[in-house]
Amino acid sequence: MAAAAPSSSLLGVLMLLASIGYAAACYSAVFGFGDSLTDAGNLIRLEPDGTVPHMYFPPYGETYFDKPTGRCSDGRLIVDLIAQHYGLPLPPPSIPASLEGDKNRLRAGVNFAVVGSRALDAQFYEQRDIFDTVTNVSMTDQLNWFKELLPSLCSSPHDCKELLDGSLFVLGEFGGNDYTHSLLSGKGINVIRPFIPIVTRAIAQAVHELVELGARTVMIPSVLPLGCAASYLTYYPSPNPDDYDELGCLIWVNEMASYHNQLLQQQLAHVRELHPYANIVFADIYNAAMEVYQGPDTYGFSGGALRACCGGGGPYNFNTSAQCGNEGATACDNPSSYVNWDGYHLTEAAYQCITTGLLEGPYTYPRMKNLCRFDSRKTSRVAQI
Ligand SMILES: *[C@@H]1O[C@H](CO)[C@@H](O)[C@H](O)[C@H]1NC(C)=O
Ligand SMILES: *[C@@H]1O[C@H](CO)[C@@H](O)[C@H](O)[C@H]1NC(C)=O
Repeated sequence: MAAAAPSSSLLGVLMLLASIGYAAACYSAVFGFGDSLTDAGNLIRLEPDGTVPHMYFPPYGETYFDKPTGRCSDGRLIVDLIAQHYGLPLPPPSIPASLEGDKNRLRAGVNFAVVGSRALDAQFYEQRDIFDTVTNVSMTDQLNWFKELLPSLCSSPHDCKELLDGSLFVLGEFGGNDYTHSLLSGKGINVIRPFIPIVTRAIAQAVHELVELGARTVMIPSVLPLGCAASYLTYYPSPNPDDYDELGCLIWVNEMASYHNQLLQQQLAHVRELHPYANIVFADIYNAAMEVYQGPDTYGFSGGALRACCGGGGPYNFNTSAQCGNEGATACDNPSSYVNWDGYHLTEAAYQCITTGLLEGPYTYPRMKNLCRFDSRKTSRVAQI
């Protein structure tokens, strides 16, 4: 009689251990690339003149870190939540990449993202008289940083192959700043629309390069529904109700974002054809976020979905002269009751909903959940033989 209880609880423990071991074995590292949706502190390390950007002031970071870290949110970002989901540490910012003695830590992941980064190089935009930018660091630069770092993360071609094979690469989101900065520098949507095929092709090319290098699993996030962002809603108010959807989001902006996401999926399909053994995962953060915008109450966002938690006033609590972290801005008491954090970016609570939608829900193609279960590295090795 007495023996039954311990053995069933032992079984429970064993099953728990197996599932933990399983989750940990899924990926051994997360490498992040992108912009302010992903940057964990690189931007300030690049500021040559010592200016401190507004996201380095409180209340940024208050929910999880108790201090600003350079992340554009009150807490963790999607890339952080993904890493933790797989039992990995938060991928540290890649700058400064002084690796002596740090190799083992960085083998669990590094974050190359920079606030303001665009998919295309600054030159592309300068040729078109677009100069509004936070940084000139592009996706190409970030990939080059990774390539430069890689030899110091692994010790032999075999070791490097194993590292790349077991890593999850999160490439993006890229594209948001390609369009936002072009719009803010005064270009119209008709000028910007032709950029979209070029941007999405560049992203697909970057995926191709990573896979050629040895990456097995690359997740490529879409752009967010930018037309629902407090920043866009403030910059482009319209007297015409027909310009807004039933949620209050700007239709023309969301159409721009959807066009990017549609072309991106087409481009990724081509990359999958070239690399049938790689896991090229489209992460539909647009629709994962849309689910939240459509029913904020369901997810506990009593502050609504459109108004920013932290900002300098106005209908959406967004004011470029008083951005979150700067003088004149104030923050809501409970960021987890808001979707939008500072006008452009979302709260940790919203990112958590999106991440759950990606890793456990239907918002990736192919499904992340199934990849981990069925495409374990053992299986893929067999497939290679
Ligand atoms: C980007 O580069 C241009 C020149 O190529 C320079 O004028 C501009 O200040 C740079 N921007 C940043 C943020 O570094
Ligand atoms: C925006 O911020 C500036 C500077 O703090 C302030 O003077 C202005 O009234 C604010 N605008 C709105 C709409 O709140």
